[in-house]
Amino acid sequence: MCGIIGYTGKKESAPYLIDGLKALEYRGYDSAGVAVCGADGLRIIKSAGKVAALEIKVKAVSPEGTCGIAHTRWATHGKPTEINSHPHTDCSGEIAVVHNGIIENYLPVKERLEKNGHRFKSETDTEVIAHLLEEKLKNASGDYEKELLKAVAEAAAELSGSYAVAAVWKKAPGTVIGAKKKSPLVAGIGDGENFLGSDVSAFGNHTDKAVYMDDGDIAVIKASGVEIYDKNCAPKKYEISVMEKSGSEAGKNGLEHYMLKEIREQPFTIKSTIESVLADIDSAFGIKTGDLKKIKNIMMVGCGTAYHATATAKYWMEEFTNIPTQAELASEYKYRKAAIPKETLAIFVSQSGETADTVAALEKAKEAGFKTVAICNVYGSTISRISDHTFYTKCGQEISVASTKAFTAQLAALFALSVLIGRAVGFLDEKTEKRLLDELSRIPEAVGEAVKSEGAVKELAERYYRDKSFVFLGRNVNYPIALEGALKLKEITYLQAEGFAAGEIKHGPIALLSVGTPVIALAPGDSLFDKMSNACEEVMARGAEAVAVTDSRGNKALDPKIKNRIVLPDTPEYLAPMVNVVALQLFAYWIARLNGREIDQPRNLAKSVTVE
Ligand code: G6P
Repeated sequence: MCGIIGYTGKKESAPYLIDGLKALEYRGYDSAGVAVCGADGLRIIKSAGKVAALEIKVKAVSPEGTCGIAHTRWATHGKPTEINSHPHTDCSGEIAVVHNGIIENYLPVKERLEKNGHRFKSETDTEVIAHLLEEKLKNASGDYEKELLKAVAEAAAELSGSYAVAAVWKKAPGTVIGAKKKSPLVAGIGDGENFLGSDVSAFGNHTDKAVYMDDGDIAVIKASGVEIYDKNCAPKKYEISVMEKSGSEAGKNGLEHYMLKEIREQPFTIKSTIESVLADIDSAFGIKTGDLKKIKNIMMVGCGTAYHATATAKYWMEEFTNIPTQAELASEYKYRKAAIPKETLAIFVSQSGETADTVAALEKAKEAGFKTVAICNVYGSTISRISDHTFYTKCGQEISVASTKAFTAQLAALFALSVLIGRAVGFLDEKTEKRLLDELSRIPEAVGEAVKSEGAVKELAERYYRDKSFVFLGRNVNYPIALEGALKLKEITYLQAEGFAAGEIKHGPIALLSVGTPVIALAPGDSLFDKMSNACEEVMARGAEAVAVTDSRGNKALDPKIKNRIVLPDTPEYLAPMVNVVALQLFAYWIARLNGREIDQPRNLAKSVTVE
């Protein structure tokens, strides 16, 4: 995945391009580049590393031109060097392209082009696009803009895989052309200036009007307007969407990292999400009560943190609906010969709404004839547009790569959905439904208390930040939270961290423990407290250090030998994940900070993974 921005208008393009790249940096940050199309042709400036490094170079050169394209990269083919960074050019240096996706047949296309005399400079799959366009345009004459459109359509027909591409050509100055297949691309409509972007954030500072492109579309962007064509170059009518303003303030509120700001925002983002559901729960998820009544099977799908939300919600779905429920990793589901149970409701959870694995799983579920509903945080995202219905979590933009506030909002939405289905199928009575939703409404307050545990969590982090290996244990609804705690720690500290179902530890993982290994045990005073307490005894008997994340009931009952404790507010057993995870997010944050890690942009990761 990567981020793309294109600009054409009356002003110098370079500042727009850099501004767009900064907004898109969450999609990848290992190298970046711009191509500015000016009176003397194309000016290409690239840099390994983050956009800030490119910005310094661009400011030094001040390339002139009112049209250009730019890219921030998350490497797939070829190391993140300057030479492999986009834009890539043809042999003549007159055509420049930026690309998000993977060209799966790039090797045979490259071989053929090399035989025809093209010389390649990089190790990327993207470079074939520039040479392919050169090949198609070698005899172009007359209306260069039309020729470019035709060349892009012909090149697109020869490429397999996924792509969102933007291209500029010296002979068609003032025009940015874009093509899309399976990777997101959006046109932005401004006043005397127009844009192309991987998503609306690329140009959100300049216009709120967007045109979401479909697969096969080609966009011709000029200062005077935006035209959309189909794959045969026939003009298409398009709809303009007006973007909602983000609910969350930009900036870090004076904090050192977005992640900390986003952790602390959770009482508010959960509250907004719950209010949005409860304002009209019967229509919040878009599925008619008649259809809810027919559900015989529930499948939930996601990746990374979003998958952990589905794994937690599986417990709720089964408890409140009595309907068989699966939580699926999107990357596994899409290539599995999975059963196709009748009357399945398939729920797709994704912060960005762009994760390629989740998009592919959604397409498979639609082919299977399942009813689909998405839980997304980004308006107009691919997943929200493909699924039958979408509920939007109300988090505002989540900027830190490690997901926090989106996760708890996903949990809130899934909890409400499980209650809604339970009531519709007649498994829950009205009184229980009301009680559960009342309890959900009180969760933001409890999460507010959990946020206040930061001081105690930081003290623990100071004790353990030099450790190299961590174990997280939980049972029942807190098992996926143990997985999420370990994932957070891995993502931002690069330390070994594993989450396990506490009952499983004796079947293998206990061999990992040595004297002093920190074992973070989610042990609230719930129905499984005794079992968690036993697990703590077992790990301490092997010399490991148990750290209990508990509540006031558990705190009273815990063995005095467990000195390390985080005491969180008492919550109903099934809602404890939303409170417990906050302590684990803060733990990961402080361990990372004490180790001097780049918390908001950890190495090798990107926020939105738009390639398989
Ligand atoms: C990436 C991010 C994770 C995130 C996952 C799913 O791997 O690094 O933090 O959980 O994608 O993202 P989504 O946008 O689909 O929730």
